[in-house]
Amino acid sequence: MFIEAASKTYVRHADLVGFCDISQARMNYWNQRMREGYSHPVVPTYLAGQFDRMITETQPDVVIVASMDSTHHHYIVHSVELGCDVICEKPMTIDEQKAKAVLDAVARTGRKVTVTFNYRYVPSVTLVRDMVMSGRIGTPLAVDLMWTLNTSHGADYFRRWHREKDKSGGLLVHKATHHFDLVNFWVGSYPQTVFAMGDLKFYGRTNAANRGEHYEYDRYTDAPGAGKDPFAFDLRRLEELRGLYLDAEADSGYIRDRNVFGDNITIEDTMAVIARYHNGVQLSYSLVAYSPWEGLRACITGTKGRIELFEYHGSHVIVDEADKQLGNERRSEGPEVPGIGNFAVYYPMFGKPVELKIPEASGGHGGGDRLILEQLFLPNQPADRYCRQADHIDGAASILLGIAANRSIETGQPVDVRQLLNLEEYRGKDVGGVRASA
Ligand SMILES: NC(=O)c1ccc[n+]([C@@H]2O[C@H](COP(=O)([O-])OP(=O)(O)OC[C@H]3O[C@@H](n4cnc5c(N)ncnc54)[C@H](O)[C@@H]3O)[C@@H](O)[C@H]2O)c1
Repeated sequence: MFIEAASKTYVRHADLVGFCDISQARMNYWNQRMREGYSHPVVPTYLAGQFDRMITETQPDVVIVASMDSTHHHYIVHSVELGCDVICEKPMTIDEQKAKAVLDAVARTGRKVTVTFNYRYVPSVTLVRDMVMSGRIGTPLAVDLMWTLNTSHGADYFRRWHREKDKSGGLLVHKATHHFDLVNFWVGSYPQTVFAMGDLKFYGRTNAANRGEHYEYDRYTDAPGAGKDPFAFDLRRLEELRGLYLDAEADSGYIRDRNVFGDNITIEDTMAVIARYHNGVQLSYSLVAYSPWEGLRACITGTKGRIELFEYHGSHVIVDEADKQLGNERRSEGPEVPGIGNFAVYYPMFGKPVELKIPEASGGHGGGDRLILEQLFLPNQPADRYCRQADHIDGAASILLGIAANRSIETGQPVDVRQLLNLEEYRGKDVGGVRASA
């Protein structure tokens, strides 16, 4: 997303000056794609250990960090120390020590870190923010957020590094950072006390064996018998998958298509969290990663009413027998359940419910990707009344809920987020974003 934005879509406003990755093959793939696809000059490449040299030689204004989650803090800290601003993919990082290193580095250097919470820009999400800001539900008191990942998208987290908690923080950090950020964004506050339960109940060898299912391959590509497996993922079927992953295995050791019913999965697939916020809001949240359909239901109840948002993102549909045999899986384009569509309803405390019109949008992540890229890349953007651009404090606040939830799962006890990291110490003079309404 960012390579194309910097080298093609917004090339009049940006100049892509270098790549850094652990895989030379992956960087070569992108250089070739930029050159052949849209005549962009090849940019210099640097292996991970040469990051500081890249900064010295290419002199960027901004570093975009989109590497494996557990490595984000390293690049953020080095970038700001070397005088660059940072645009970082979510999650900002995966544990409280690394989050503290980031916050300390930003405090020390005064550089700017933006965390790319693209969901904030999805029109339905902004609509909910608008309803809360307008005061129509009064003071928000309670939030219910149910999120389901289907057996296509959800399963993908169990095929690669995300399935190892020390690399991704687990889904309560890697994935739920988006969801917790939305709650923070909607209610204008940060979590304080967190209690959680979580388990691996569907993926993994033991769960499959308990259901009488046995999949004897470690990975899917070229595995005999995998063609009939609805979870199979064939890296040969798309040129991009081949170029970025299969051809880069030799120099990175990164296997992209591991069996979701294999060993050594250290993350949960079934999670429930309750949290109390600084402003008193109570959150009830659930996430499953193996649902037949994907989407969300979000409800915010306040002193004067309630808003409900329902989104159906689609199921995991295998299109036909030929696709099945090729291991091709498809996420449905639209609702294949009659009558199911996205909707938002405002319920005044006393009065008739009103269906709210969700603005149309197109593009990745419900239209959020285009809007966030415009705000990041185009000059002279108008002031955003919704304060959607998230900073390092917002990035920390959303992962701290997940990190606290992980701790609660380990200990069986509620966790006070301030015992992990006290954000108050870092809320300096540049109060903005969600904090403006906290
Ligand atoms: N905002 C969103 O909706 C969204 C969507 C997808 C991914 N993401 C985030 O983007 C990031 C990348 O995700 P992805 O799906 O492209 O993953 P990916 O595994 O395809 O890419 C990760 C890249 O990081 C590289 N890498 C691994 N270790 C490294 C190291 N030590 N130093 C430098 N590079 C290293 C890998 O070689 C690979 O090129 C993740 O943090 C993910 O959470 C965000």
